[in-house]
Amino acid sequence: MVKLIGKKKISCAVFISGRGTNLESIFKYSKKTNSKISIKLVISNNSDALGINFAKNNKVTCKIIKYKNIKKAEKEILNYLELHNIKFIFLAGFMKILSKNFIKKFKNKIINIHPSLLPKYKGLNTHIRVIANNEKFSGCTVHFVNETLDSGKIILQKKVKILKEDNAKSLAKRILEEENKLYPKAIKKVFLRF
Ligand code: GRF
Repeated sequence: MVKLIGKKKISCAVFISGRGTNLESIFKYSKKTNSKISIKLVISNNSDALGINFAKNNKVTCKIIKYKNIKKAEKEILNYLELHNIKFIFLAGFMKILSKNFIKKFKNKIINIHPSLLPKYKGLNTHIRVIANNEKFSGCTVHFVNETLDSGKIILQKKVKILKEDNAKSLAKRILEEENKLYPKAIKKVFLRF
């Protein structure tokens, strides 16, 4: 691990449910000399998530959490977070909603990426809704997580122009490329004060 001058990197976890391209971009950023974070743990609620392979290949501890019972699942997650001394959480395509109780325990320490220009298009199926509404622009937002879905303080946003020929799939692809660049930039901004 690269040492900050006189300071250790801050232990962080990434929560995923699928592909894991944002996990990958955060992880790559964490390896830079001047980054202040170290990814110590990946949590997935989905045992088929592709991101699990990335975590394994890069020797990051990865825990799969069954979400039959949210209380039990979150208790298990909190135990792992404590075990790995996790101070910050990055949600990267995590498809479960964290309870108010959980969020309180990590107040202002959970960051999420959402594929729209918040506060517009909170929730699921953003690209389909954006196209159906004939929007000229969409984009992505990195924000702090508070108790209300997709409503926490915005850290950074990137606008993406919608092309005439775009459908939800092509737009999702272009926005994802921007997400992968925006997430590390937003983390860098948040950690300036550390
Ligand atoms: C991203 O579009 C993110 O904004 C959304 O879920 C997707 C996750 O993609 N919340 P990936 O798993 O990081 O590739």
